[in-house]
Amino acid sequence: MKEKILEIKKSAEEEIKNVSSLEELNNFRVKYAGKSGLLTEVMRGMRDVPKEERPALGALVNEVRTFVEGEIESLEKKLSLEKLNEKLKGEKIDITEPSKNSERGIFHPIQRTFNKLLDACVAMGFEVVTGPEVELDKYNFELLNVPKDHPARDMQDTFYVTDDIVLRTQTSSVQVRTMENRKPPIKIVSPGKTYRSDSDATHSPVFHQLEGLVVDKDISLLDLKNILTDLLQILFGKETKIRFRPSYFPFTEPSVEVDISCPNCKGEGCYLCKKTGWMELLGAGIVNPKVLENCNIDPKIYSGFAFGFGVDRLTMVMDKIPHMRMLFENDMRFLKQVK
Ligand code: DAH
Repeated sequence: MKEKILEIKKSAEEEIKNVSSLEELNNFRVKYAGKSGLLTEVMRGMRDVPKEERPALGALVNEVRTFVEGEIESLEKKLSLEKLNEKLKGEKIDITEPSKNSERGIFHPIQRTFNKLLDACVAMGFEVVTGPEVELDKYNFELLNVPKDHPARDMQDTFYVTDDIVLRTQTSSVQVRTMENRKPPIKIVSPGKTYRSDSDATHSPVFHQLEGLVVDKDISLLDLKNILTDLLQILFGKETKIRFRPSYFPFTEPSVEVDISCPNCKGEGCYLCKKTGWMELLGAGIVNPKVLENCNIDPKIYSGFAFGFGVDRLTMVMDKIPHMRMLFENDMRFLKQVK
């Protein structure tokens, strides 16, 4: 019996040397350490061995089993690692290989105008604030001094969601939201989408505005004029002429409309300015004291000015785009040309 066990050990020692794959190793495991393997068989034969020899032989079998299992374990680790390395070699990626050309994204011209405007405004100390596009009538109209029966509602064709909810027709709604929540000094700009139900060559039902608001002590029309002049000259160059015309908005008093000399023809008259030499770019004015009051700001202590840019119009001027529609068709051939 003892010889048999030592024989098994010897042949295991020999055989394992030739095992060179996980499959072979598995066969080896089955042959020696498996349920019906050689070592199990020897243990079964123990019945026929005299009792007093059993402990010593049993110990020997266990010793051989430990040896065999130890060999299997370490070879298994080695072979698995080799297999993994082999696999990884096959999957190697050459990260230095040049990539296939993928399309690079660009900003939409309107977004680029926003970026320019916001950069200039932030440099001038404005904070950027945004508000919802689906807006309460209260913020879009009522608190801006446009109650429900006010004739000024006819100035803007509104999309109503319900009686009290609209798609905002102007970013001026963010003025009110801001003043309601904060104490002056306030110096904000608010960019975003706006909606009106008209659509023709120069109007799109979705368009873009940038609203500005400054509220503090002793703010006058002169501050408005200076800030807007600076802003427009940053955007269009120092030589740009700026014209203020009296106008009417319910939320400002007095109100002005602001034009710049056409940057395309320098005031000579061209297709972009419809031969007038001027481009109308924004509405502005001194915040109506009623609006301040509506937002719990005391008009005896504070005053303010506000302005609203039509960003689509501004983009057309900056990028010399003849038709507003081109901004919304999203034809890549056109968008790629405008840089
Ligand atoms: N909300 C106006 C419009 O859409 C533009 C405007 C005019 C905004 C005067 C203002 C302002 O803040 O003071 O036509």
